[in-house]
Amino acid sequence: MPWMVRWPGGFPVFAAQAEGARLRDVDGHEYVDFCLGDTAAMTGHSPEPTVRALAEQARRGITLMLPSEDALWAGRELGRRFGLARWQFALTATDANRFAIRLARELTGRPKVLVFNWCYHGSVDETFATLTDGAVVAREGNVGPPVPLDETTRVVEWNDVEALERELAHGDVACVLTEPALTNIGIVLPEPGFHDALRAATRETETLLIVDETHTICAGPGGYTAAHGLEPDLLTIGKPIAGGIPAAAYGFSRNVAERLEALLPRDERADIGGIGGTVAANVLSLAATRATLEHVLTEHAFGHMIALGERFEAGVADAIERHGLPWHVTRLGCRVEYLFRPERPRTGSEAAAGGDALLDRLIHLYALNRGILLTPFHNMALMSPATTEADVDLHTEVFDEAAQELAGT
Ligand SMILES: Cc1ncc(COP(=O)(O)O)c(C=O)c1O
Repeated sequence: MPWMVRWPGGFPVFAAQAEGARLRDVDGHEYVDFCLGDTAAMTGHSPEPTVRALAEQARRGITLMLPSEDALWAGRELGRRFGLARWQFALTATDANRFAIRLARELTGRPKVLVFNWCYHGSVDETFATLTDGAVVAREGNVGPPVPLDETTRVVEWNDVEALERELAHGDVACVLTEPALTNIGIVLPEPGFHDALRAATRETETLLIVDETHTICAGPGGYTAAHGLEPDLLTIGKPIAGGIPAAAYGFSRNVAERLEALLPRDERADIGGIGGTVAANVLSLAATRATLEHVLTEHAFGHMIALGERFEAGVADAIERHGLPWHVTRLGCRVEYLFRPERPRTGSEAAAGGDALLDRLIHLYALNRGILLTPFHNMALMSPATTEADVDLHTEVFDEAAQELAGT
């Protein structure tokens, strides 16, 4: 994968082993890991309850093509956390998004998907689109797009309600697919009232709203959706829900579930529907999902993780201010990110324009050389249940030194 090798410093970090919030490389260097597998290891590496459940389940079957009781438990628990009635399982968040989009098209009979500029939802064809001079085109680096992107996708800027309403008014959009806050171009938070306007505009035009909580689970046990009372029609999530074992889920509101059940007779379309896969909902990933949700990503753990996020944010904000740098820091729950521009961006485009690839690389290398692993090509840090105050304080110290050297203060 490109992100495995795109580290500054001439060669990538080769991992030897990881445990909790620490990672050791093959040369014996130890790092505090704030990257945490870009959220897939937000649980900390190899959390004990998940490892135990995996070992026990692996002896009792790995993939059976049959439902398990863990699936029932996980479906109920996801329903309790996120407020959606029914759930299906996949292996990656990319797949959960792809399946949710197919279902939205089937339900609405409409062809298009609306996404926000500079979004990321995995390798989903429809979402690799961008706005260039007002036109929807393939995003740079999009490998082999099957059709021109304006045939499948409408794109608007985040927080732009007027453009959203204008694009939905065409009546050809099956679903809006969005993160509740953008997290893949730095963190770009919704402005007050944006989610209300999004929900009202999607309801008015009978467009389904899919909320992708894969990263924003950092906001709490029920993600941003529960923390802010969102009411999506469908919700997708992957990455950390099984402690890093491939697992993902997509949930539906009761209304969507009933409409789908009426539309998709169980016997007729079971294996040609374009949904799911042979090893989706396998018993091993469901055992890991259950153990992770029950014992690792708990309410108590989020209390600890979010407090550490606040500590991390305060340390960075203080250093930025003391050294008079034109930067800022943003936090969403236990996810913190700094961006090299003075004001918070309102849109993905503003955030992209505020990027500084060279400075990014410098900070990453500076941190790596001092025992800290940040997420490649983001200045993003995540707190896990295993992260400690001392880990955060080490970052604060290193960031402060870097800021001092750069500012010459
Ligand atoms: C919001 C969001 N959704 C979906 C995905 C895709 O996840 P995966 O690569 O595990 O399929 C990502 C990956 O970064 C993501 O950030």
